[in-house]
Amino acid sequence: MTHTLTLTRPDDWHLHLRDGAMMDGVLPHSAAHFGRAIIMPNLVPPVRTAADAAAYRARILAALPKGAGFTPLMTLYLTETTEAEDVAAAAAAGLVTAVKLYPAGATTNSQSGVSNFDTVMPVLERMAEIGLPLCVHGEVTDPAVDIFDREAVFIARILAPLRARLPELRVVLEHVTTSDGVDYVKSAQAGLAATITTHHLMINRNHMLVGGIRPHYYCLPIVKRASHMEALRKAATSGDARFFLGTDSAPHVDATKECGCGCAGVFSAPNTLACLAHVFEEMGALERLEGFTSLNGPAFYRLAPNSAKITLQKQDEPVPYPARIETGAGPVTVFDPGHPLFWQVVGG
Ligand code: DOR
Ligand code: ZN
Repeated sequence: MTHTLTLTRPDDWHLHLRDGAMMDGVLPHSAAHFGRAIIMPNLVPPVRTAADAAAYRARILAALPKGAGFTPLMTLYLTETTEAEDVAAAAAAGLVTAVKLYPAGATTNSQSGVSNFDTVMPVLERMAEIGLPLCVHGEVTDPAVDIFDREAVFIARILAPLRARLPELRVVLEHVTTSDGVDYVKSAQAGLAATITTHHLMINRNHMLVGGIRPHYYCLPIVKRASHMEALRKAATSGDARFFLGTDSAPHVDATKECGCGCAGVFSAPNTLACLAHVFEEMGALERLEGFTSLNGPAFYRLAPNSAKITLQKQDEPVPYPARIETGAGPVTVFDPGHPLFWQVVGG
């Protein structure tokens, strides 16, 4: 039985760091284990322009613990007034790695997102020309569509027509949560990949709703039925390079989750790698963990894998992870997979 695993240092291809005191509190947890992360731009106000991204990157670098081997990969928040020239210049300068599409109203701080997709076609066409990936929050916002169907309907109504119209555009279907999404990604010829979160590999809607409502499992896209979780677990552990890790670790202080109208987001940065090793071991696929965490993402983003390594060790006794962390903004609950974890990052 394998008790030690040495992996190329992982990257997180979808991460919320926030800003200010919250960022100071959460950033060390990602920087401890990850070499790079795609930084989500849904601040208030959003990271819309190259200048915004440069300023945010500087704040992240200033907040990093000394000696951290962590590089933030910046994104721009696509709005209906985003200028193609600004995006192209930011990409040419190496300042941004992707552009993020939020359908307006789909999730946390998405009010400035896109309602009319025709308005953003000039930007998307330019991105297709220069090979800059679009990271997509794939949910429709039509109030008539059931929340559990919003990903599948987005693929049919928005994503498939968009990709037919602009096949050269490189797209990441972020935090895929359904077998429909997995099948859609697998059916694509090229230029399409998907991130999968840690929590969507470990919880389904029963975990969130049976025996009481668990607000710390509430996220968007919402966790689906168990058969969808199984499809995600198969995709992540299959070795198919179109699937890679994007934790979507999304901190909110406990008071804003444990209330009458709680925020969406699961904070998994501290124990994500322990969780993933657990899942891959359960699936008999520990040898494919490195592809998912460290190789498939860089390949899609046309970057070299990290040269550093990280070591995980399986302990005989459960490894204690904190139930919550304290930040200057308030306490933030850490993702609880609902069972003990035995893997621990011991070096790297
Ligand atoms: O659960 C989520 N939280 N999903 C998102 O799309 C946004 C994120 C956040 O920013 O809190
Ligand atoms: Zn997110």
